[in-house]
Amino acid sequence: MRNIVLIGFMGTGKSTVGKRVAQALAWDFVDTDCEIGEVTNLSVTEIFRRHGETRFRSEERIVVARLSQQEQIVIATGGGTVLNPLNWEALAQNGIVIALHASIEAILSRIGHKNDRPLLKGSKEAIEKLWSERQACYAQADFTVDTSQKTIDEVVSEILTRLGGRVNNEFSGVAKD
Ligand code: S3P
Repeated sequence: MRNIVLIGFMGTGKSTVGKRVAQALAWDFVDTDCEIGEVTNLSVTEIFRRHGETRFRSEERIVVARLSQQEQIVIATGGGTVLNPLNWEALAQNGIVIALHASIEAILSRIGHKNDRPLLKGSKEAIEKLWSERQACYAQADFTVDTSQKTIDEVVSEILTRLGGRVNNEFSGVAKD
């Protein structure tokens, strides 16, 4: 049995949507950032501050390798997780990869001033650059759901529809992009 993997930029709703999809399927939900937090006993912000991004990425790699071995879980990845081809390969080998997309405007308005993400501390231009650079990577997902103008319910229901009720059947009927 395979997993469901949510990828996409920060603020696209991967964790919120992932929890709801897992609930609907009665599968477990796992968030890679939370897993890294548990393993290291540090928040993402603290890892970046104390040890830097390189350390964070190596912890992320270990967590992804472990989660990729599991079955019937919904995995919400961090926005940068699948930029590492090893992570992409491991996650895709054992799961269907769904990209959540959102416009830069939607992302900035969702994140607002409560922003504690280390990579969203820069100027709007810097965030926009990062967002643009990553779109080609996210576009390789099995399918993409644009969340910009949708409620969480709408996004969850679109995902479940695209999965075609075949989650117990190795996703043979998934409507890919
Ligand atoms: C990152 C996204 C974050 C977290 C870390 C790096 C990224 O996760 O993994 O701050 O590189 O885009 P979210 O996408 O859940 O915010």
